[in-house]
Amino acid sequence: MSSTNTPTQTTTAITSSVDRRPVPVKLVLLGESAVGKSSLVVRFVNREYSENREPTIGAAFLTQKCTVDDDKIVKFEIWDTAGQERFHSLAPMYYRNAQAAIVMYDITKASTLDKAKGWVKELQRQANSQIVIALVGNKLDLVEEQSTDDENSNSRQVTYEEASAYASEAGLLFFETSAKTSVNVDEVFTEIAKNIPFDYLINNRNGSRVAGGNSNNARLDLLREAGVNGQSSNGCAC
Ligand code: GTP
Ligand code: MG
Repeated sequence: MSSTNTPTQTTTAITSSVDRRPVPVKLVLLGESAVGKSSLVVRFVNREYSENREPTIGAAFLTQKCTVDDDKIVKFEIWDTAGQERFHSLAPMYYRNAQAAIVMYDITKASTLDKAKGWVKELQRQANSQIVIALVGNKLDLVEEQSTDDENSNSRQVTYEEASAYASEAGLLFFETSAKTSVNVDEVFTEIAKNIPFDYLINNRNGSRVAGGNSNNARLDLLREAGVNGQSSNGCAC
């Protein structure tokens, strides 16, 4: 065999061995109760929305795959935490080793942005130093409905400009969303996936787990919310 064939054979071998397994990304959702964290994640994973969702107890776990740049597959392992104050102390279990976080507020309730800023500070102090954080202002549909139905009323309490300026100062991605109408929901997750260094993801291919055991055990112990907990989808949302 001529030695001139070798480079071609080597190239073929490298090309065919490209690893296309989904890369796990641990993502945590944080924010005050009722801002719409569960609604956002259920919209992303199950393409559904329901009014009057029950508050989350402890946390819920869901997964969803997402293709980035046409060839990289990210598998989001999503911890949807409970926003009620009594669950605050559990949060470090969920953001520990997380590669991404969504910190949510409700654009019709100014106090929820203050709470979100508190979560951002806590993450920047105590979470993984490489964590990608997205600030998300939810319930955009309420503002849009108001402005169409009644020109004189405006239920918005946080302007786009104010939140966006804070996000860029703090180094966060920023979106306004509606879990109800789906506006910008997939975009939040796609943008997060794009902003996580792919080499970093590969090095963390085995993913990270809630402290004290594997995620399945954690689900048994911590997940109580009927209809949401432990759901997963093999589909690709984005
Ligand atoms: P906790 O689990 O207690 O932390 O709350 P949460 O942040 O998960 O909020 P959840 O998703 O349970 O939503 C609270 C309420 O807000 C529910 O009645 C939802 O139907 C409503 N809601 C959520 N997202 C939207 C939205 O985009 N638009 C409107 N209009 N309502 C929303
Ligand atoms: Mg919830």
